[in-house]
Amino acid sequence: MSAFLIVTPTWDATPWAKAMKAARPELDIRIWPETGRVEDITYAAAWLPPADVLKGLPKLKVIFSLGAGVDAILSDKTLPRGVPIVRVNDDDLTMRMSEYIVLQVLMHHRQQRRLDENQRNKIWDQFPTHAAKDMSVGIMGLGVLGQDAARKLAMMGFKVRGWSRGAKQIESVSSFAGHEQLDAFLGDTDILVCLLPATAETDGLINSALIAKLSRKGPFGAPILINAGRGRQQNEDDILACLNAGTLHAASLDVFRKEPLPKESALWRHPRVTVTPHIAADSDPAAICAYLARQIENFEKDGALQNIVDMRHGY
Ligand code: NAP
Ligand code: GLV
Repeated sequence: MSAFLIVTPTWDATPWAKAMKAARPELDIRIWPETGRVEDITYAAAWLPPADVLKGLPKLKVIFSLGAGVDAILSDKTLPRGVPIVRVNDDDLTMRMSEYIVLQVLMHHRQQRRLDENQRNKIWDQFPTHAAKDMSVGIMGLGVLGQDAARKLAMMGFKVRGWSRGAKQIESVSSFAGHEQLDAFLGDTDILVCLLPATAETDGLINSALIAKLSRKGPFGAPILINAGRGRQQNEDDILACLNAGTLHAASLDVFRKEPLPKESALWRHPRVTVTPHIAADSDPAAICAYLARQIENFEKDGALQNIVDMRHGY
């Protein structure tokens, strides 16, 4: 008997249970808190599991994160030791994220919000535009998502650079690695895209000091920020102060320190901020469960798992 427990206290688990049943019909699917006999449960898929739930499953073999980010699993300080945690790396999610990043880059590059405003006011203003080759996009986090977005932006003609822990070799993308190369990466970046995981090292990284190091040589004279990583990485007061001081030209934010973004946040009504409600790359239950089913099939065949979280680094 192999049972699969879904633990999503902040989401409706029903579509996940249906999708998992469709992907692997022989699995006994259970939805927390209706765990049944805990000794039957060998797999758990979770997002923000309450403390002690996963720890209380004595036969658990694998924990699956229901997102690409694993901060919502690692926040459980009672996780059972020695049980591997597998994260999502799925083409459907990756494509959605690249759509979002390309959309936001183009919106700023082609000054779409200015055009919308002009249309609202019936103003025919043929202001100068510029070529993609005149804009450099720097992606912090050159993992699964960052690399895909980097390739797509490079294909469109943008100058693309990326920053990660270790150096990468990606055609038409300049690679910068580690703290020693962060300033060089920032210094020639006109549009900064953040696709980093939330870890102790990335907490609060996007602040006034970092924004001050970005390029001022781009067409708008000040840089642009796009954050679709995690809200914990940004200091929102600093972002607002930089926007108001003109040291940051504009921002697109999909993630926030507190979600939903509180109504009183000045980010909602800032004329140069685009707020999206953490939907840059939605997790589609059918696509993600098909991925989980493939992982379980391989694991049961020869014990192999892909995309295991490295607990030393926290992603
Ligand atoms: P990933 O494949 O694990 O990539 C993470 C990247 O960040 C890697 O390139 C890694 O460097 C780099 N990195 C991590 N810590 C670093 C540090 N201290 N200094 C420099 N580079 C560092 O993850 P992913 O699948 O691309 O996802 C990235 C993040 O996107 C997730 O963790 C999640 O927070 C966010 N996300 C957001 C949404 C949304 O809807 N807004 C959806 C999905 C995911 P190395 O390659 O050298 O290890
Ligand atoms: C969503 O934010 C994810 O981590 O997949």
